[in-house]
Amino acid sequence: MFILKRAFILVLFCRLKLSLVRSCFPKMAASAASGMQIATARPCITSSRKFFQGGAAFLSADPKGSSWLKLSSAHQISSVQPFQQRNFASSLAKFNQVVTKAVAESGESKPLPGLPIDLRGKKAFIAGVADDNGYGWAIAKSLAAAGAQILVGTWVPALNIFENSLRRGKFDDSRVLPDGSLMEIVKIYPLDAVYDNPEDAPEDVKSNKRYAGSSNWTVQEVAESVKQDFGSIDILVHSLANGPEVSKPLLETSRKGYLAALSASSYSYVSLLKHFLPIMNPGKLLKNQPLCFFSFCRSGGSSISLTYIASEKIIPGYGGGMSSAKAALESDTRVLAFEAGRKKRIRVNTISAGPLRSRAAKAIGFIDTMIEYSLTNAPLQKELSADEVGNAAAFLASPLASAITGAVIYVDNGLNAMGVGVDSPVFVDLDIPKDKH
Ligand SMILES: *[C@@H]1O[C@H](CO)[C@@H](O)[C@H](O)[C@H]1NC(C)=O
Repeated sequence: MFILKRAFILVLFCRLKLSLVRSCFPKMAASAASGMQIATARPCITSSRKFFQGGAAFLSADPKGSSWLKLSSAHQISSVQPFQQRNFASSLAKFNQVVTKAVAESGESKPLPGLPIDLRGKKAFIAGVADDNGYGWAIAKSLAAAGAQILVGTWVPALNIFENSLRRGKFDDSRVLPDGSLMEIVKIYPLDAVYDNPEDAPEDVKSNKRYAGSSNWTVQEVAESVKQDFGSIDILVHSLANGPEVSKPLLETSRKGYLAALSASSYSYVSLLKHFLPIMNPGKLLKNQPLCFFSFCRSGGSSISLTYIASEKIIPGYGGGMSSAKAALESDTRVLAFEAGRKKRIRVNTISAGPLRSRAAKAIGFIDTMIEYSLTNAPLQKELSADEVGNAAAFLASPLASAITGAVIYVDNGLNAMGVGVDSPVFVDLDIPKDKH
């Protein structure tokens, strides 16, 4: 009886999965096609405080990486009992039979082995979206494509333009999801992540006309507002950074500029997670749940930020203490992974993204140089698209990544793995192969 009941539920679940598989298929095609897509873009924001959308990306470029992470997997210990293993294997076998049956019944000619990223029913808060390009927007889209509800935090001075552009349909082309629908942003919150609470915000900022029209924009207040509106969230994304002296070498960076970079780009993340953690849905281990295939029921909330290789390797041009800020962000990712993991089984990861082309980037020039460098030197000789970062974020936020935490994940065409720039004239006789595709 139990087995029958279980099989029935399995069939139901597989039907569900099937429709997902189908809806995911065009998505895969679409993102493959857009692999070479170039994100053209407006400068995100012009103001006294330049805000870099997508943190890693806006004023950034890319190269290197080594990883303490690799060490951690060296001593994997399996605690699975033989009995449980048998059990698991037999339910897997059942699962496969039912999948085959369900596929056959539905008239699908080619059964797809479905392993969808399913974020339906999850709520994501993405801090640092103020236009339709850059990594914040791309992450929002990928999470939305996987079914998540999207809330965003938009830098206060950029709020009006962003809301108006959305309302007037200026972003409609870039709102299109793989199934043809348009991404809905459920709510936009004004946010200035440099201030934790109203007492922190200086009078001249509060009374500034770009701020005065908005309220509740400090980190604590935004978290409170989200709690009032939605109760809880599942996914927290930090996609903002700012370095007022980014164009200065570190040796010429002022204390003020350095600390501002750390405050806006690193501590903003600590503060965000600190204030949102109480309303993040914890990871639960549900026992005896028929739908707990693989690790689907073990995964709870997760948090993602964006970093840049300049944190660990020298990238001239990424100055003003921004390299220091990214180093702090990556170190904090590990410590926060421990603290949030122990406290609520929340996972904390960061994506080290390569350079993204945008209009703003073109204006700066530095990114163009780094894109060129990557095209010449990276293992994959293609331009990075924002979608590729968005899709990695969707994976990290999903139960498929339920054992990944404290990690720096490189989404950079592999440039981080290179030890030398192969375009150097010293390699001229090496006959290094070039991608001819
Ligand atoms: C600001 O937050 C407070 C407390 O959460 C709330 O009562 C108030 O309505 C909010 N103000 C606005 C304009 O949303």
